[in-house]
Amino acid sequence: MLRSVILAAARNQQVKRVVAGAPVSRSVVRRYVAGESTDDAVRVTGELVGQGLTVSLDHLGEDTADAAQAAAIAKAYCTLLDRLSGEGLAAKAEFSVKLSAVGQALPGDGERIALEHAREIAEAAQRAGTTVTLDMEDHTTTDSTLSILGDLRADYPATGAVLQAYLRRTEGDCRALAYPGSRVRLCKGAYDEPDTVAFGSMHEVDLSYVRCLNVLMAGPGYPMVASHDPRLIAIADERARWYGRARGSYEFQLLYGVRPDEQLRLAAAGETVRVYVPYGAEWYGYLMRRLAERPANVSFFLRSLVSRG
Ligand code: FDA
Repeated sequence: MLRSVILAAARNQQVKRVVAGAPVSRSVVRRYVAGESTDDAVRVTGELVGQGLTVSLDHLGEDTADAAQAAAIAKAYCTLLDRLSGEGLAAKAEFSVKLSAVGQALPGDGERIALEHAREIAEAAQRAGTTVTLDMEDHTTTDSTLSILGDLRADYPATGAVLQAYLRRTEGDCRALAYPGSRVRLCKGAYDEPDTVAFGSMHEVDLSYVRCLNVLMAGPGYPMVASHDPRLIAIADERARWYGRARGSYEFQLLYGVRPDEQLRLAAAGETVRVYVPYGAEWYGYLMRRLAERPANVSFFLRSLVSRG
């Protein structure tokens, strides 16, 4: 219930104006977001790489409503790529792109605009020796995102996909995407979805996650296990051994600011660990989804609003 309320607020422009404009304690945002600038993204990348981790950088923004903003976000990715190349960090960094940030939600030819911008970013990433992964948003965008993925993979085969275990369709999508070279990030899913398309209970979502994990670990692709759930991490580790996978033929992914000790523990055990690092000024939707995942964070957040307000 609380989760649904927070996720509804994540897309409500009035609530956004109130929350984003309030003098929120910077520490709440800073826990999950690297900072607002390219410099912040480069600095945090350097720190994480120095600890033996790799990163996936997300320029914050979603549901972009004007074409100029979509183009600006694509350009920001290319600028960041140049900076990381200059610092010798590009090989350890890939890029997570939300298609709605680069135009997918624009009326008319939004899908074409998003594909063009995603192409620009994938081209720059390929030049720098790295890759892009397309984040997955709510279920109304799944078909469009997978279609754009197919177009991008024709020219940039290393482009990664994200599949959400809470969707009933996802086991089938895992099978379709389990082919050589296919990079697939498996997560539980972060949006508020109707029962018609998504499993209703966390238990069902976890079971679906394990079924999908089996498909990906058994297949010839490159699974990216995106979860902080200790049980799922342990099962992924066990499944990798079961299917005879060498370390480095799959990876674990966790969010910046969430279970940092676990990130280091996995890396110390010889696993490839990638930290998803968001940066930029448009932190509102991202932060609200993180709060929805952990109700304990909500009271902390509200207290900070009240104490600074
Ligand atoms: P779960 O939510 O059950 O959490 C397990 C444990 O992890 C919790 O008990 C808590 O200890 C800790 N934890 C989890 N979230 C926390 C938080 N916010 N703050 C503090 N502790 C927390 N979703 C999506 O729909 N599309 C996408 O493209 C992506 N991309 C993505 C990339 C990466 C690298 C990750 C790790 C996750 C995503 N997600 C996503 C988000 C994902 O769908 C999911 O909402 C979160 O990962 C939380 O699910 P867990 O599997 O961690 O389990």
